[in-house]
Amino acid sequence: MKKYTNINDIDNVSEIIQEAIQLKKDPFKFEALGKCKTLIMLFFNSSLRTRLSTEKAAKNLGMQAMVLNVTDAWNLEHEDGAVMNLDKAEHIKEAARVISQYGDIIAIRAFPTLTDKAKDESEHIINSFIKYATVPIVSMESATAHPLQALADAITIEELKTKKRPKVVLSWAPHPKALPQAVPNSFVTMMHELDVDFCVTHPKEYELNPEITKDTPIIYNQEKALKDADFVYVKNWSSYKNYGQVLSEDTNWMMTKEKLGKAKFMHCLPVRRNVVVKDVVLDSNQSAVIQEANNRTYSAQIVLKKILEDLK
Ligand code: CP
Repeated sequence: MKKYTNINDIDNVSEIIQEAIQLKKDPFKFEALGKCKTLIMLFFNSSLRTRLSTEKAAKNLGMQAMVLNVTDAWNLEHEDGAVMNLDKAEHIKEAARVISQYGDIIAIRAFPTLTDKAKDESEHIINSFIKYATVPIVSMESATAHPLQALADAITIEELKTKKRPKVVLSWAPHPKALPQAVPNSFVTMMHELDVDFCVTHPKEYELNPEITKDTPIIYNQEKALKDADFVYVKNWSSYKNYGQVLSEDTNWMMTKEKLGKAKFMHCLPVRRNVVVKDVVLDSNQSAVIQEANNRTYSAQIVLKKILEDLK
């Protein structure tokens, strides 16, 4: 694997899921692979799970890991030909090449603005690192995608499924803040790689990017969508059409025990209790969120392993 910024960077999704499940059973098996190699993690935004699980994944492979909160470094310019006489002290052209000398893989978290759709869709931060860095790039969540999360979610579904072709529903939830579409985008893309009966449910006006959902059934009636579900992935996202806006905080879309039925509850975390989902769901044995978070380590580890094998 040359990079991991989108799910389509994986050659064979079923194979990588099975390999990740094997790695989980014996996480230090490939400890020699990353010896004398360094992962550099650049955070433009906050994180709990991604930061710790990706570092753990690197260390399980024998790598060293270095973290830079980019807000502590120089403000980066991304425009080609910019006259840098304002607040940007360093150009990405130098920064990416300099960082590439200190690490063998660069992992980046860079959220969207949620105000400038064109800029967000250009993925200007992660793409400028892909352009100017001289080492492989891994996305730890970009403006439009969270592929490490989606891989962890797929591993979790594979571990928990009790039938060959489970029904999986992505269900929008209310939230007081405008959140990115990265997690649902990658989840939808990942579900198309799995043998699942998949649909999305959300209020009207919360359509995701139609390019991403073009082959996905969208059911506006949540109760109908949730019928006989085996897995319910609950997530808020802000409007794509009215870009970045919170159009509804309708509490009727919150996940409850009654609506969940017998399904497993999934969420990428962090989650707002009693806004997105009722306590009783999160505290029940139907909640898969802790297992999902644990699988973040193995999704990162299998991706880093594939990239390290390609570096040789
Ligand atoms: N799910 C996830 O990416 O968690 P963090 O934002 O805490 O890294």
